[in-house]
Amino acid sequence: MKYLMVCLGNICRSPMAEGVLRKKLQAAGSTSEVDSCGFEPYHIGDSPDLRAQTILKNHGIDISRHLGRLFQPDDFEKFDRIFVMDSNNYRDVMFMARKPEDKEKVDYLMNMVNHGANQIVPDPYYGGIEGFEQSFNLISLACDAIIEKIEP
Ligand code: 4NP
Repeated sequence: MKYLMVCLGNICRSPMAEGVLRKKLQAAGSTSEVDSCGFEPYHIGDSPDLRAQTILKNHGIDISRHLGRLFQPDDFEKFDRIFVMDSNNYRDVMFMARKPEDKEKVDYLMNMVNHGANQIVPDPYYGGIEGFEQSFNLISLACDAIIEKIEP
C-alpha cells in the first residue's frame, strides 16, 4: 500500500502522521510506503516545525529530513489511500479529484478509529507544545488502526 498524509502546511500534522505510520509499518514488517504533503505554498521546502520534530524525537522518530511539498494531481495515481487531517484539507483534496476512483481514496485520518465520524486532527500551529502532543496522540491511534484494518 502507498499512503499519503495531507494537512495544510505540511510542517506539523501530516509530517507527524508520515513519521508515526512509517515507524508502525516498519515495526509490523510491512513494505508499504508513506509520504505527506499540504496545500499552503508558504512552507514548500521547509523542514517540519521544530515542535513536531521534538515530539516525535521523544517517541524515537526522526522526521527532520522531510521537506514540505504541495499536493499534486498525480498523487491520485501514486497513492492508494489519502488521509486528511481536517475538513479544509478534505475539501481541498476532493476539489482536485477528477474521477470517482480519486474520491474513493480520500478519507479523514480519524475515520480509521471512528468510522464516518469525520473527527479532525486539530491544527496545532498557533498553540503550544501541548497541542502537538494532543495531535500526536490522535495520529498514533489512527495509525494503529491502519495497521490493524488495512495492512493485513
Ligand atoms: P499543519 O499546520 O497544517 O499541521 O502543517 C500549519 C502550519 C502552517 C500553517 C498552517 C497550518 N501556516 O498557515 O503557515
